[in-house]
Amino acid sequence: MTRVAFVGLGRMGAPMAARLAGAGHEVTVFNRTPRPELVPAGARASSSCAEAAAGAEVIVTMLADGAALHAVLDGADGILAGVAAGAGAGAGSPAGETGARPVLVNMSTIGPDAAREVAARAADAGLDFLDAPVSGSVPAAEAGTLVAMVGGQPAVLDRVRDVLGAMTREQLHLGPVGSGAAMKLALNLALAVTNETIAETLLLAQRAGISRDAAYDVLAAGALASPFVTYKRAAFADPVNAPVAFSVDLMRKDVGLALALADDVGLDVPAGRSVAGVLDAASSAGLGDRDIATVLTAQDAPG
Ligand SMILES: NC(=O)c1ccc[n+]([C@@H]2O[C@H](COP(=O)([O-])OP(=O)(O)OC[C@H]3O[C@@H](n4cnc5c(N)ncnc54)[C@H](OP(=O)(O)O)[C@@H]3O)[C@@H](O)[C@H]2O)c1
Repeated sequence: MTRVAFVGLGRMGAPMAARLAGAGHEVTVFNRTPRPELVPAGARASSSCAEAAAGAEVIVTMLADGAALHAVLDGADGILAGVAAGAGAGAGSPAGETGARPVLVNMSTIGPDAAREVAARAADAGLDFLDAPVSGSVPAAEAGTLVAMVGGQPAVLDRVRDVLGAMTREQLHLGPVGSGAAMKLALNLALAVTNETIAETLLLAQRAGISRDAAYDVLAAGALASPFVTYKRAAFADPVNAPVAFSVDLMRKDVGLALALADDVGLDVPAGRSVAGVLDAASSAGLGDRDIATVLTAQDAPG
């Protein structure tokens, strides 16, 4: 049993925190907007990040973006202040008993530079750091079958393997801090392009007289079949009214970070550039807070 602080009870964070509490870890949660209904059974709600982090052995963040991560780290109520207070409380804290430094595990999707910067700040505050963004959406978060892409020291990963194991079915180590973030951006570029490809496939089939349902049967049975194609079926059936699993605006954030990474490494990614424009158009059409399947709706204007 590990003492875990979990920050960010969004669409992904709430079920992930519930998995942790369900696995028997001692979980304290914090969300910027108080959401008592999202505090998992067996977990405790705290009134600040600092309170949640004080004395925790592992601190998990699952937030919208890098700005949100900075917002929860900094200030008198932030994670770093809480860790300092917990350390000041002495050897009575669980982290003090084992002698191990607490570990900050960021599972939000941020850029590799941001991950390295946070790791440096965490190190100054006496924390080890891993970037561990995830593949899989809300159903995988609920089932604990996410895949974590991990950057950081292998020995630190080993120390938090049971905590990550409660939320993820695989924890793939990719290299030093920033590697998990970079892999996640590369992967989400593929996901964004695939999402757009599904929309174009369905629209093309539909304009050729094939129902969306029949076209999806072929997608789900054919060579392109994948977990993503399978779990997006209901969303593509009725994109505007579908429960939001992953919003257009969050995907646009990830594609923007992926394009910046491509720029840094001197690579052109034309499909990525194109899908950024598609997501911008969906956002301009007022669909930014809807599920990413609404790219289909945004493109379904009569030609
Ligand atoms: N949804 C997916 O399918 C999926 C899959 C894999 C990875 N991801 C990534 O996982 C992360 C979370 O995604 P999500 O879908 O769970 O997002 P979400 O439902 O929009 O939740 C975002 C969370 O971030 C918090 N937040 C935002 N700005 C903040 C700030 N300035 N200060 C403090 N907290 C702030 C929100 O708090 P409030 O409640 O107060 O707004 C909420 O807890 C993102 O990085 C996303 O790219 C998402």
